[in-house]
Amino acid sequence: IPVDLFDLVIFGATGDLAMRKILPALYRRDLAGQLPDGARIIGAARSDFTDASWRDELRRDLADCVPASLQEAGALDRFLNRLGYVPIDVRGEDGWRDLAARIRPKAIQAYYFSVGPDLFGDLARNLHAHGMNSETCRIVVEKPFGHDLSSARALNATLAAHFHEHQVYRIDHYLGKETVQNLMAVRFGNMLFEPLWNAQYVDHIQITVAETVGVAGRGEYYDKSGAVRDMVQNHMMQLLCLIAMEPPYAFEPDAVRDEKLKVIRALDPVAPDDIVRGQYGAANGFASYLEDVGNPDSHTESFIAIKAHVSSWRWKGTPFYLRTGKRLRARTSEIVVTFKDPPHSIFGPQEGQKSNVLAIRLQPNEGIKLKVTIKEPGPGGMRLIEVPLDMSFAEALGEGARDIADAYERLIMDVIRGNQTLFMRGDEVEAAWAWTDPIIAAWDAREDRPQLYDPGSSGPEDALMLMHRDGRRWREVKP
Ligand code: BG6
Repeated sequence: IPVDLFDLVIFGATGDLAMRKILPALYRRDLAGQLPDGARIIGAARSDFTDASWRDELRRDLADCVPASLQEAGALDRFLNRLGYVPIDVRGEDGWRDLAARIRPKAIQAYYFSVGPDLFGDLARNLHAHGMNSETCRIVVEKPFGHDLSSARALNATLAAHFHEHQVYRIDHYLGKETVQNLMAVRFGNMLFEPLWNAQYVDHIQITVAETVGVAGRGEYYDKSGAVRDMVQNHMMQLLCLIAMEPPYAFEPDAVRDEKLKVIRALDPVAPDDIVRGQYGAANGFASYLEDVGNPDSHTESFIAIKAHVSSWRWKGTPFYLRTGKRLRARTSEIVVTFKDPPHSIFGPQEGQKSNVLAIRLQPNEGIKLKVTIKEPGPGGMRLIEVPLDMSFAEALGEGARDIADAYERLIMDVIRGNQTLFMRGDEVEAAWAWTDPIIAAWDAREDRPQLYDPGSSGPEDALMLMHRDGRRWREVKP
């Protein structure tokens, strides 16, 4: 769907996120023919570029950030011609008048705050002071949205002083992932799953986001955050919401976000015994977490496993096991729904009969696998075995799946279209912090360190125990 004419201003345009994600995403949308003639992207940051020198810089940098197959000279020139640059002092006065002079009142105006949250207030104030916060403009803000509930509330209040909630687009890039949206399509586009999607039929649900990367290079940020703030409060919480929520009445911003909020509010506080924190040690040729962050005394977790409960009619009694960590065996994100056993086996005790399992693979190799029980072929009587109904999106969709857009491509276009469905509302973010704050506080009050695990493993021993003690098992973390 084409979008209307826009002026997109990227504050922090020379930073890492702009270079790695925002600008390449815009280039790819331009290549796909989605940016209208005259759409403009204005970089604003402290460095002293001109329009021309910034374009030169980007010509070189984009070559590193965009796959070679997508680099077409003509398309690159067209994209670079959309770009302008205004040196700006976010906290002071310099540059703001120049920027205001470039904004076209008739175009959609979007301001991307690709800067630390400590600058959100100054940006909001200056946009207002220079007459740029029109009723129709949008602002885009990135995580981390606060460090805890009180800082998130303060940030919301800062933004609310100058913008309405319908103008604020809080990005969680997981919501832009094609397969994450597929969670909703699978649940609400089929009749097959929804009638069974509750505590009566579902034994438990596992959500795993495993990464092979460590934290070297971003140790300063990560060591102050840890896995709970970095992954659980936002990405994992969003996955949990999409899996657990009631059907919204429509795929519309507030309908979806109201349902997600109900899930977060229905989460029980987590018992201390239901949390396992881990930190990777040095092994298999990898440096330890402590070396990576340069802090020999750090108690910050690079891994966390949590057993969570959603207290609702639908889910009472079905545990949700969440785990995420760095330097694990494989990069894989997966949601696994394990159904209960049939109430009675008419075939007598059978070794091969296992519970049905629906595994939704978010990345990489996106797809859905359903394990079903069938009869083992042959004349040997009624022996049951488990076989997978396996659907890889790449195989099923062929070419279509190969060009899965990057999350940022979709999300930035949604900002221009004015569609907030895939963005977090302020109350949602606050509710998520309200749930994670006590987890963090309970940990901070303790003296012990997270349990060590080896790089290349599937996390600390106690995380395995978290499920074993309930007679359950994590699905293996494998590529
Ligand atoms: C980011 C976290 O939000 O998400 C990173 O800050 C993490 O620590 C990343 O590595 C994971 O995103 P993806 O898209 O690679 O799964």
